[in-house]
Amino acid sequence: MSVTVKPVRIPDFLEKKRRGERIAVLTAYDATMARLIDRAGVDAILVGDSLGMVVMGHETTLEVTMDVMVHHTRSVANGTRHAAVIADMPFLSYQTSVADAVRNAGRLLGEGHAAAVKLEGGRAMVETVARLVDVGIPVMGHIGMTPQSVHRLGGHQKLGMSEAERLLEEAKLLERAGVFSIVLEQIPSEAAAAITKAVRVPTIGIGAGPDCDGQVLVSYDALGLFDEFVPPFVKHYAKLGEEVVRAAAEYAAEVRDGRFPK
Ligand code: KIV
Repeated sequence: MSVTVKPVRIPDFLEKKRRGERIAVLTAYDATMARLIDRAGVDAILVGDSLGMVVMGHETTLEVTMDVMVHHTRSVANGTRHAAVIADMPFLSYQTSVADAVRNAGRLLGEGHAAAVKLEGGRAMVETVARLVDVGIPVMGHIGMTPQSVHRLGGHQKLGMSEAERLLEEAKLLERAGVFSIVLEQIPSEAAAAITKAVRVPTIGIGAGPDCDGQVLVSYDALGLFDEFVPPFVKHYAKLGEEVVRAAAEYAAEVRDGRFPK
């Protein structure tokens, strides 16, 4: 499939919402996957700290470090020509102080070649977001089920409507602080629709219903590569995991019985 190679810039996100164009985002963690996903024409590639789970095999995202994120972000940027590359700020790389946040976000842009960073949290992150934006670092917000708070939330499950008012307030605060978009993760569709209507910046949903301005999925989920658990909102667009097992078994059989190499 061939697509135009005009790069997606951060201001294009606002423009897309203004024009009513939906935004498609997938995660990637290495250059080869990024190259394939970029060729498909997605608008943005998120180097998510979900890599702690789907690439590194941890149970949460909490063990991901700045060095790991810089390494994977640079790999993804090496494979990307069209999509905007957005890098997740890992646990404790931005919550400790505004100065830490600026230094670490700067590494993701400078060393990792990301165009923007994403960080989790609403009200508590307003000062940090404002400072990052002030010094020229675009920020994507992330509210709802925020995986770095997995222990406070008691798991990775969806939030209820009782949180809707707070989430709306936090989305407005993030917009005022200068985010260029906001991920809404695992919140009721009605709450996501209300936020999407109330803010000018695009909302990017994951498990947040159809009324967001865009959607994001973890590529390993969407492509059927990660089968430790499948979140209820995931759609499998391919079953690559099964194909990898089939191909590797065929290779092993051919090596063992002498059919490969010829
Ligand atoms: O880490 C990640 O991949 C994410 C997305 C699921 C939004 O934060």
